Amino acid sequence: MPSTIVTLDAPLDMHLHLRDEVMLRNIAKASAATFSGALIMPNLVPPVSSKEALLAYKKRITEAIGEEHFTPYMTLFFKSEYDRAFLESVREELTAIKLYPAGITTNSQGGVSGFDIEALRPSLEAMSDLEIPLCIHGETNGFVMDREAEFVSIYEKLASAFPKLKIIMEHITTKESVAALDRFENLHATITVHHLLITLDDVAGGMLQPHLFCKPIAKRPQDREALLKVALEAHPKVMFGSDSAPHPRHAKETCGCAAGVFTAPIALQLLTELFDTHRSLEHIQAFISGNAQKIYGIAPLSKKVILEKEPFRVPAEYNGVVPMYASEEIAYSIKGVRHG
Ligand code: DOR
Ligand code: ZN
Repeated sequence: MPSTIVTLDAPLDMHLHLRDEVMLRNIAKASAATFSGALIMPNLVPPVSSKEALLAYKKRITEAIGEEHFTPYMTLFFKSEYDRAFLESVREELTAIKLYPAGITTNSQGGVSGFDIEALRPSLEAMSDLEIPLCIHGETNGFVMDREAEFVSIYEKLASAFPKLKIIMEHITTKESVAALDRFENLHATITVHHLLITLDDVAGGMLQPHLFCKPIAKRPQDREALLKVALEAHPKVMFGSDSAPHPRHAKETCGCAAGVFTAPIALQLLTELFDTHRSLEHIQAFISGNAQKIYGIAPLSKKVILEKEPFRVPAEYNGVVPMYASEEIAYSIKGVRHG
């Protein structure tokens, strides 16, 4: 029997950490080889928060990518000080602005504390007028399993206070966030591949798995079910964002493990396997590209990625970074990539 072939057109990763310097040079091609483009997170040290920093970072990314056809969709690190004049001056260079609650995750110390809507109003109104989407890492500093569900009331406040502002709930992990999608027209979401596959049991139910530890932490089976439902039907308000977040092996396999799962080189294979297992392959194209194109109003470079149902053994490491499912076998392999 011929094996299944799946062709994906212009895959987009709408939430990606490419880092900087050696790490950037080591991992950028892992995304650029198979994705048409990605939304690049700004949580460098220091965060990307000026036009100069954004343009310089984009240049370093372009250099690291080399010959690959890949668009880095740039973001700035949200600051409530951003005024209209600044946002107007930077509008053409960015695709979105990413808001982190202060201290909630890697390199987010300069983020927002307290969520005082009035303090945020000038910058968010300007973003709304300039049609700059706001991406949010939605977690409170409450109990770790409840942080995202607690943040839903903040999403709701923001969504009603700024009804024209496009808000993207990043890397959602709970049924509460899924339910919020249909309550507010201006709420959208990215979903990672790891949160579609694992629950907290996989992270900490047996021996602790540092390479599956991330923020937000994977939740309960019923949360994963809710995420799977909207991903597999390619609900028009959800799109793929890997949150692939590489850390060197020594920062993961240590006392005080850094948060982040590295999935960039295997994300398309895993998603194809998942959609195939759930007999939902007819929706994968919308989840991996079509929905993001509509939500962000972007037209990515054409790139056809051909996958075949043939086992692929995930490498133990990519340049010193341990991927999800390292040394394990997954069901799909990438057979080829065509441009144009
Ligand atoms: O697990 C995570 N890692 N979650 C984030 O929000 C940030 C990311 C990182 O930058 O390492
Ligand atoms: Zn992230």
